[in-house]
Amino acid sequence: MEEANKSVFNDCFTSAMSLTDSGVSRVPTRYILPPSERPMLGSSIDTDAINLPVIDLFHLHNPLLRPRVIHEIEMACKGFGFFQIINHGISSSVVKGAIDAATRFFDLPADEKMLLVSDSFHEPVRYGTSINHSTEKVHYWRDFIKHYSHPLSKWIDLWPSNPLCYKEKVGKYAEATHLLHKQLTEAILESLGLETNYLQEETKEGSQVMAVNCYPSCPEPEIALGMPPHSDYGSLTILLQSSQGLQIMDRNNNWVCVPYIEGALIVQLGDQVEVMSNGIYKSVVHRVTVNKDITRLSFASLHSLPMDMKERYHTEKIHRDTQEEQFMNCQ
Ligand code: OGA
Ligand code: NI
Repeated sequence: MEEANKSVFNDCFTSAMSLTDSGVSRVPTRYILPPSERPMLGSSIDTDAINLPVIDLFHLHNPLLRPRVIHEIEMACKGFGFFQIINHGISSSVVKGAIDAATRFFDLPADEKMLLVSDSFHEPVRYGTSINHSTEKVHYWRDFIKHYSHPLSKWIDLWPSNPLCYKEKVGKYAEATHLLHKQLTEAILESLGLETNYLQEETKEGSQVMAVNCYPSCPEPEIALGMPPHSDYGSLTILLQSSQGLQIMDRNNNWVCVPYIEGALIVQLGDQVEVMSNGIYKSVVHRVTVNKDITRLSFASLHSLPMDMKERYHTEKIHRDTQEEQFMNCQ
């Protein structure tokens, strides 16, 4: 079955990286978005005019000052379903190590990466390109490697063994992110007025999938995207970006560029939090733009509560549109 998958892929698989490396001056037709879905770079909303929340977590562990941080989190969740965090406790050496390992992975020869290619969404480790390359109408300018990451000891042996440092460096980052996710979940529950141990068991059993994304420089960034508009299906996503490129949709349906802040991480609410909070908090719709000059990397640590949780709350769930639903199914 797996072999069959690979041969289907080999027939048509072209990574975004190989297109960039081949020096194409136009994007191939399959990457051109219909005019209404193009990012309109330059004409999108002035980022400076909107104050996107940046929250300092330094005082989260100080009982006297914690309420203030919790209040900031509440405001950000209500206003955007999104915030950036600083003083989050993950050291810059762990972050740099992960980015370095990912850079080396995507720089490997195509044959080496193809050893991990699969179009099966249930594969615990999977290299691929775009979103759903074999079925989608339009392709996206993105390569990725995705792997289950929690519990680490269960999955890490399946992760790439090339480059040699990958398991160690990305493993350290994944563990640190899992811990941070636990602290953020408690803070978000508290901001909703719920006990911090409300979902303790579910959080412990929940899954963590690490999507490591690579968006190579693109010759025509105004007519292509790295990822289409979507919301993440899980509870929380912790995103690390190497440069600017993410856009979020604000409550007035305007696309807003998320500024790059050195050392910061991005927190995005997913659909499970929207459901769990009875819609008081909304998941954030976001997309990824590409650019002409540099390759952008990102680590999206996607945290989800166990399946039965989803079922427990699913009556409240409203999908925004079918395109998005399809996207979430293939994530
Ligand atoms: C994702 C995602 C954003 C980015 O992986 O779900 O939205 O900047 N990534 O790569
Ligand atoms: Ni996403």
